[in-house]
Amino acid sequence: MGACRGRFASRTPDGFQAISAGKYDYRGYAVPSKQYSVCGGYPDALARVGQLLSQECEAVDFMDINMGCPIDLVCDKNAGSALLRQPKRMEQIVRATATALGEVPLTFKTRKGFNDGEDVAHTFLHKAGEWGAAAVTLHGRTRQQRYSRLADWDYIAQVGRNCATTGLQLVGNGDVFSYTDWNAHMGESGGHLASLMIGRGALIKPWLFTEIKEQRHWDISAGERLDLYRQFAAAGLEHWGSDSRGVESTRRFLLEWLSFTHRYVPVGLIEVLPQAMNHRPPAYRGRNELESLLGSDDPQDWLRISEMLLGPPPAPISFAPKHKSNSYASPPGGASEADMARG
Ligand SMILES: Cc1cc2nc3c(=O)[nH]c(=O)nc-3n(C[C@H](O)[C@H](O)[C@H](O)COP(=O)(O)O)c2cc1C
Repeated sequence: MGACRGRFASRTPDGFQAISAGKYDYRGYAVPSKQYSVCGGYPDALARVGQLLSQECEAVDFMDINMGCPIDLVCDKNAGSALLRQPKRMEQIVRATATALGEVPLTFKTRKGFNDGEDVAHTFLHKAGEWGAAAVTLHGRTRQQRYSRLADWDYIAQVGRNCATTGLQLVGNGDVFSYTDWNAHMGESGGHLASLMIGRGALIKPWLFTEIKEQRHWDISAGERLDLYRQFAAAGLEHWGSDSRGVESTRRFLLEWLSFTHRYVPVGLIEVLPQAMNHRPPAYRGRNELESLLGSDDPQDWLRISEMLLGPPPAPISFAPKHKSNSYASPPGGASEADMARG
């Protein structure tokens, strides 16, 4: 996401622009924004981070506080989702950090509530602008819920309406996987959402943003998909270096990514469009060998794809993804810490 100084995202008729990038160069290409996502539970510590960012770092676009992280490691330190149990502390954090940041906009991300059946965000989020936040992202799930059940877009729309009365920009988040999801959620909100945030959809099908912009389901070919992975590998080698260490770092990150990308089911093969985020598709045969390979959920096949792009590893390796269920819906209590992701 991008941001403009003093204003998080412009409320354009083309909501996509607001989420994809706030700045463009002379050719009209998006300029990457400098944003800092931080987690913490204490106003003084976060205000200090804000002060450092505004005084020591150049051209910071915005600072975001993650107040939605579900993992125990974070919540046990009174940070992330734990702050949903202490709205007063949340307010103190936002006030102190926004003051320390000065001109640099502050945003934060949170959830409906901590426990199921105890939604609380609607009771205070509309006041966040008064506290000093430029925008807030709301993931329509509780911490307890993890990825089980669908995100609650009725709730997000309700909070969006409340926030609109105070002028706060609310960004909705949860399960957006097609341009029709985008249209439905932006429409349901009655124009009260500033934009939407996309998590897993961007990992599984990075061309989702093009689909939203061009308002179509893209039947992307397996070759085009492999080209994207090739670009990823090239960027990895540029970043980590093309020595054996750089290649293996690139491979590790590529494999993590492939543990998400295989979930995509080609538009030309799917019976009912669009594919839904929570739908775990049955195994299928692609229209060619490469398409079948890219849809495989077998880590050995992800290794094969990595070998096509990076060559064989120096010694045989095994791979188990960090996000073991790749953030599919998991029954409460059934997901590992890593499965729950971080927001
Ligand atoms: C691999 C992965 C990493 C994530 N990391 C973060 C993070 O660092 N900060 C954050 O606020 N949310 C993080 N999240 C949560 C997402 O931003 C998002 O809130 C959640 O996945 C629901 O949106 P989605 O249905 O579009 O994926 C992460 C999710 C995944 C799958």
